[in-house]
Amino acid sequence: MKDYSEYFKGPSLRDAKHRGKDEIHHIDDAYEVPADMIGIGKGQKYFIQTYGCQANERDGETLAGILESLGYEATDEIKDAQVVLLNTCAIRENAEEKVFGKIGYLKKVKRTNPNVIFGICGCMAQEEVVIQKILEKHQQVDMIFGTHNIHRLPVLLKQAMLDKEMVLEVWSKEGDVIENLPSHRAHPYKAWVNIMYGCNKFCTYCIVPYTRGKERSRLKNEIIEEVNELKAQGYQEITLLGQNVNSYGKDFDDGYNFASLLADVAQTGIPRIRFTTSHPWDFTDDMIDTIAQYDNIMPAIHLPVQSGNSEVLKRMGRRYSREQYLELFDKIKTKIPDCTITTDIIVGFPGETDEQFEDTITLYEHCEYDLAYTFIYSPRAGTPAAKMEDDIDIHTKEQRLYRLNDLVNEKALKQNQKYLDEVVEVLVEGTSKKDDNMLTGYTRHQKLINFKGNQDHIGQIVPVKVTEVKTWALKGEEIE
Ligand code: 5AD
Ligand code: SF4
Repeated sequence: MKDYSEYFKGPSLRDAKHRGKDEIHHIDDAYEVPADMIGIGKGQKYFIQTYGCQANERDGETLAGILESLGYEATDEIKDAQVVLLNTCAIRENAEEKVFGKIGYLKKVKRTNPNVIFGICGCMAQEEVVIQKILEKHQQVDMIFGTHNIHRLPVLLKQAMLDKEMVLEVWSKEGDVIENLPSHRAHPYKAWVNIMYGCNKFCTYCIVPYTRGKERSRLKNEIIEEVNELKAQGYQEITLLGQNVNSYGKDFDDGYNFASLLADVAQTGIPRIRFTTSHPWDFTDDMIDTIAQYDNIMPAIHLPVQSGNSEVLKRMGRRYSREQYLELFDKIKTKIPDCTITTDIIVGFPGETDEQFEDTITLYEHCEYDLAYTFIYSPRAGTPAAKMEDDIDIHTKEQRLYRLNDLVNEKALKQNQKYLDEVVEVLVEGTSKKDDNMLTGYTRHQKLINFKGNQDHIGQIVPVKVTEVKTWALKGEEIE
């Protein structure tokens, strides 16, 4: 097998914590299409499958934009595609297993269509163990490229077309913010806008600081310009994206921060602004005041707690105690009384005792979240938690998850009941998948609602009366 060591300059999990404070480069001319790649995809199709979070979804839009700029068209059928990309997620083991299942399936596709080019990108492509496994066992893969190499797709695709060996490019050069990439947005009325990349928090269970590199912010002007363009194109809603949005601006030296950005984005007048994800540690009073002040910043905050026990939080490296989290939570609810708050929780962190898990339950009872995404802890190779002793068996962990999920459902229904008979504003996204006669969309508080209404109003924000509430969604009728 070819020696790939010179191509793989990937961030070593060991080295990542010793990140230098090297300068962050904002580059607007990095995207390059080799002359002989222009129009190469004419008459051909591409298929991209994206796993994981919104950051990955946004990357998927960029990948789609790049392939379309080369002339390829999208298809939903792998068998019709000449280029297939799996844009992967590494957050938990089951996310990776799904991808390996798909990689196995691609072997069959390659037998019937030997000219297809298969690429693996996204967070798994940043992991040495994954790359090793693909090199050893999955020769049907033609190219692997990392999260910092997306703009190089035209060049890598050319290499893959010419070269019989697998093309591998994973850079540890993680300090750049690359602008001006093509993009094909997935939705016509709501859009994701990256504001920062990477993460420096190093929670002990989490792979993201390694796969996405160091924290770096986009320049304010680039973000505002993007929002203004989206507004001019008729977009109604934007979601500001970052692994940790409230760290925005920490790499600037002028004090411009996430609260400042939120206010400036609000002043563009785009009808709806959301943001995700926030870390409780640097959620400032200024941020809360700004959210309260502007009507176009939606009162719906995702505020991951992870555990309700201070000792577990400490071992998770979360930088706050149960008490500090609750203080922040209560402050948000006081200053923005109608604000919905959702969260993420991990059960079965190494060594989590029954009593410590009970603290998560009592915290949940206090917060009565609108919704929670709950997970069983999954060890990630190279992270500090993966080396911690874990004497809790999987059966106990599963029981904790089921118990927590029952509480999540109970509170979700309770919170939704507040909206019964109320009139809510809904951004109409289209017709419901289950019933053509029903429209579907989200309220200001990020509640999914299916309702009877006027199809001509798709893409607009309309008033809807809530007639029925369920755990996962509301039902209603548009007010004419
Ligand atoms: N195991 C289980 N859940 C995890 N998350 C992140 N890393 C892990 C892991 N190793 C969860 C956290 C995070 C969400 C995106 O995924 O709750 O907030
Ligand atoms: Fe998955 Fe995290 Fe990567 Fe998003 S950043 S794709 S959640 S590993």
